[in-house]
Amino acid sequence: MSDMSFLRLDGLTLAYGKTPAVEGLNLDIHRGELIALLGPSGCGKTTTMRAIAGLMPVRAGQITLDGRDITRVAANRREVGLVFQSYALFPHLTVFENVAFGLRLKGMSGKALEDKVMAAIASVGLTPFAQRKTPDMSGGQQQRVALARSMVMEPKVLMLDEPLSNLDARLRLEMRTELQRVQKKTGLTMIFVTHDQIEALALADRIVVMRNGAIEQIGTPEDIYNRPESAFVADFVGFETIFALKDGAMVTKGEPVPVPDAPAGAAALAWRPRAVTFGEGRFEGTVLSSSFAGSAREYLLDTPLGPVKAEVDAALPAHDLGATVRFDLPVATAAALRRAE
Ligand SMILES: Nc1ncnc2c1ncn2[C@@H]1O[C@H](COP(=O)(O)OP(=O)(O)O)[C@@H](O)[C@H]1O
Ligand SMILES: [Mg+2]
Repeated sequence: MSDMSFLRLDGLTLAYGKTPAVEGLNLDIHRGELIALLGPSGCGKTTTMRAIAGLMPVRAGQITLDGRDITRVAANRREVGLVFQSYALFPHLTVFENVAFGLRLKGMSGKALEDKVMAAIASVGLTPFAQRKTPDMSGGQQQRVALARSMVMEPKVLMLDEPLSNLDARLRLEMRTELQRVQKKTGLTMIFVTHDQIEALALADRIVVMRNGAIEQIGTPEDIYNRPESAFVADFVGFETIFALKDGAMVTKGEPVPVPDAPAGAAALAWRPRAVTFGEGRFEGTVLSSSFAGSAREYLLDTPLGPVKAEVDAALPAHDLGATVRFDLPVATAAALRRAE
């Protein structure tokens, strides 16, 4: 096993009864990495985490953590922490007692316990709230308690299943920064599940995009955002105009459009709205809808190629619905995809 691989999933296969959930998943996570698992609902994110935590039997494959095969190790002996979407705090206990719970189960008490618990509470900025009961706290504070409760057990890997999805937009942003700060400070290896691409791009060292129980692409936020490999990933990160290539031409709703300068090996070309040339070019379309987004205006065009989404500077004169406009899809501003699906 390579030094780089701290948590390794090898051919991980998981199922609920006869229903497969995850098929032959391979993943290497480095020590200290912050990994985002990104993908639509039902793609197997939670199931994968539950298997790593030991809460879901493994049908086939292996899970190795820090050189130890933990595939069949009991959940409480794995040194893996899992923070659920619904924090699952004890409402009748104080913050201190919620965080102390796991250590007490392990037989710790007295000053040693108190020091550890207070240090964990301090690391999430909740020292003044140690004696509060958790139902009296905000969603963001409860999330920090759940984080402290997992971190105090000193897991080798901490996993968070959509930890921010219950928070409002402002608090999400605050907690995102907080999570990143705690992770950098502690050097903890973390896996973070989200279905929000913005969150994954902002937080992660690497993003794992999942689809139908398998990994679709692994890469840095820059890789995933700028160099998606498939139409699935491209669509997920905002490439709204995508055409497959066949025999050197784009497959469109109408006539194929020859692309003599398409990059070798490309199976499809994809454009973000901003990468579409608007107002001039080889093609013509009709404005189906237009939306103002502050500095930019977005147009959805009905075209002989199919729908095309373009974004232009909002300072430019607006086009009415039904207006005919010229546009172009330059190869130079397209992402070349290796898979057209
Ligand atoms: N308790 C369960 N029983 C049966 N099937 C389940 C159960 N939980 C999840 N599944 C199925 O397993 C697949 C993966 O689900 P899940 O891991 O929860 O996805 P995600 O967390 O990415 O939304 C889905 O097809 C889902 O319907
Ligand atoms: Mg889930």
